[in-house]
Amino acid sequence: MSHPHISLTRFLIEEQRAGRVNAELRLLVEVVARACKTISIAVGKGALGGVLGEAGTGNIQGEAQKKLDVIANDVLLEANAWGGHLAGLASEEMDHSMPIPDVYPRGNYLLLFDPLDGSSNIDVNVSVGTIFSVLRCPEGVTTPADEHYLQPGTEQVAAGYCVYGPQTTLVLTVGHGTHAFTLDREVGSFILTTRGMRIPEETKEFAVNASNQRFWEAPMQRYVGDLLAGKDGPRGKDFNMRWIASMVADVHRILTRGGIFSYPLDSKCAPKGGKLRLMYEANPMSLLVEQAGGAASTGRQRMLEVQPNGLHMRVPVFLGSKAEVEAAVSYHRSHDAGAA
Ligand code: AHG
Ligand code: MN
Ligand code: MN
Repeated sequence: MSHPHISLTRFLIEEQRAGRVNAELRLLVEVVARACKTISIAVGKGALGGVLGEAGTGNIQGEAQKKLDVIANDVLLEANAWGGHLAGLASEEMDHSMPIPDVYPRGNYLLLFDPLDGSSNIDVNVSVGTIFSVLRCPEGVTTPADEHYLQPGTEQVAAGYCVYGPQTTLVLTVGHGTHAFTLDREVGSFILTTRGMRIPEETKEFAVNASNQRFWEAPMQRYVGDLLAGKDGPRGKDFNMRWIASMVADVHRILTRGGIFSYPLDSKCAPKGGKLRLMYEANPMSLLVEQAGGAASTGRQRMLEVQPNGLHMRVPVFLGSKAEVEAAVSYHRSHDAGAA
């Protein structure tokens, strides 16, 4: 063997031989990865491909859609319709879930995705990505409806994201560790570049949109206040801050070198329950992070145990280095204990 490279295809075949994925899930991951390659090419063309700017439409979240939000959504729908691996799909950009059309066979899985995460960064050439989550279609259900997707994150059989940055990197878990694959653009294949990503338990780096500070809850104010106090404060060390405003890119940094990512409750997003979406953003990222030794919480509950009350449910998010997430949670715990 002259070539030590392990392609995503080979990795999945080996996972199948080890009994960790079946043929249907293997096909699902391959199809999603292929769709991500198509999206990566569209993102990479930028202004030359006429893909920048507004689509002129809105989604159910009340957000203006970018052209690439719509393109990425269409690519994922088209790629996943015909393979026989899915019973249905749900997207951040669609009002309701969609059963696989009758003309195709239906499989056992449900696919949920944020087709393009970090939309505000598309036009300025900053990393964006695709996030996905895989659930089982409940036993006996042939035409899944929205309610059949409302399973806690612990039920995910696979999750991943693809970040379109200087490199296109697919990060995947099928419940046995978190692994990174880098797109070899010449060959057109994803190649395993990190097997078993590990998030350092401690960190000195945090990610938050600090412009929301005055809208945060008291425990968040106190937590970040203590981070900013640095060496002289109760935490006894200086912290650095990073905020890319693409969750995929921020989480990718954290999976690579540690840190804590937060999008806390604030008085602007409180009526909706938070900013980020449980099913398309928080749950898949939380599984990836837990599988890499990190932790993920709403601040008050383990993320993966949240019972969804709607397809587009939003939640506060704290995820990353285990000890730091526990620290953030402890501020919420002592605040709530004081209030009670
Ligand atoms: P999306 O582009 O899918 O709507 O998600 C954007 C999310 C997330 O990627 C990011 O962390 C956050 O919104 C950025 O929020 P701010 O604009 O408040 O910084
Ligand atoms: Mn998003
Ligand atoms: Mn999105």
